[in-house]
Amino acid sequence: MSFRLQPAAPARPNRCQLFGPGSNTKLFAKMAASAADVINLDLEDSVAPSDKEQARANVIEAIGNVDWGTKTLSVRINGLDTPYWYRDVVDLLEQSSARLDQIMIPKVGCAEDVYAVDALVTAIEAAKGRTKRIAFEVIIESAAGIAHVEEIAASSPRLEAMSLGAADFAASMGMQTTGIGGTQENYYMLREGQKYWSDPWHWAQTAIVAACRTHGILPVDGPFGDFSDDEGYIAQAMRSATLGMVGKWAIHPKQIALANQVFTPSEAAVAEAREILAAMEEAKASGAGATVYKGRLVDIASIKQAEVIVKQSEMIAAG
Ligand code: COA
Ligand code: MG
Repeated sequence: MSFRLQPAAPARPNRCQLFGPGSNTKLFAKMAASAADVINLDLEDSVAPSDKEQARANVIEAIGNVDWGTKTLSVRINGLDTPYWYRDVVDLLEQSSARLDQIMIPKVGCAEDVYAVDALVTAIEAAKGRTKRIAFEVIIESAAGIAHVEEIAASSPRLEAMSLGAADFAASMGMQTTGIGGTQENYYMLREGQKYWSDPWHWAQTAIVAACRTHGILPVDGPFGDFSDDEGYIAQAMRSATLGMVGKWAIHPKQIALANQVFTPSEAAVAEAREILAAMEEAKASGAGATVYKGRLVDIASIKQAEVIVKQSEMIAAG
C-alpha cells in the first residue's frame, strides 16, 4: 500500500439516481415521493432547445417548493459545448433555495471543464452568501472523458460522484450500437459454434471505479434505456455492483426498486461477511493471519472485502 491512504467516498446512499426532464413539472412530486436516493432534475438532453429556459425556471421553483425529504437533490446542467450552461449555473446559484445539494456536469472531457464550473460556482456562492457548498457530480460519456478520467476524478474538492453515460459514450467512441447500456448483439466470443456474449462497458466501468476509488468519489452506473427489460437492467446493475459501483440511474420509476435491490447488500451477503470477520477475529486471537471459512482461504485481505459489504449495509441502514 502506498503511504497515501485511499480516501473514503462520501458516506451517503447513492443506490438509485432518478432522472426526470425539467420541462415535465408533473413528474416532480412523483420523483420526490419515490424510493430513489438521489433525484436528478434534468436541464440537458431530455429537454428540447425551445424548452431550455422554461425548464430552468421550473427546476429553480421546484427546488424550493417541493418537499424532497432527505434525498440528495441534483440538477443536470447543459454541457460546456452549449450556449446554455453558464446561465444554468448562474440562475441556479443565484435563485434556487439552499435545498439544492449538487450540480451534475455532463460530457466532461478534462479537469478544466470542472474547474470552469467550480470557478463560477465559487464566485456566486461568495457573492450571494450561500453557506452550503454545492457538490458536483460528473458524467464520463466521451472518449476524452475516459482518456482523462483520473485527472477529472481529482479535479475539484466539490466532486462526489461520477457516472458512466453509455449512450453518449458509445457515440463518441464510434461504437456500432444504438442501445443504451446492456448486452450488445455483436459483442460475443465464439467457441465450438456457440456465442458467448461479453461486456463492452466493462473496461470503461473499471477505469471509472479505479479513478473514483483513488480520489474518494462514488462510482455510479448510468442509464439503461430499455425500461421494459427488468432482467437486462438487473444483469447490468449486478455487473456494475460486482465491479465496485455503488448505484445506477433510473430513467423510469420501475427501475428504482431494481437498483435498490441490487445495490443494497443482501442479508445473506452481510451475514456471510460478518462470519468471515468473526473467523478472522478468532484466527488473529490465536496468532494466525489466515484461516479456513467454508472450505476456502480467508486472510487479512478478506477482512477488507468483508468490511466493504458490512459498511455499505450499515451506511444504507443509517441513511
Ligand atoms: N419520474 C417519476 N415518475 C415518472 C417518471 C419519472 N422519470 N417517468 C414516468 N413517471 C410516471 C408517469 O407520470 C406515470 O405516472 P401515473 O401512473 O401517475 O400516470 C407512471 O410513472 C408510468 O409512466 P409511463 O406511462 O410508463 O411512462 P411515460 O410514457 O409517462 O414516460 C419516459 C416515459 C421515458 C418519457 C419518462 O419516464 C421520462 O421522462 N423519463 C426520464 C427521462 C430523462 O430524464 N432522461 C434523462 C436522463 S437519461
Ligand atoms: Mg448523455
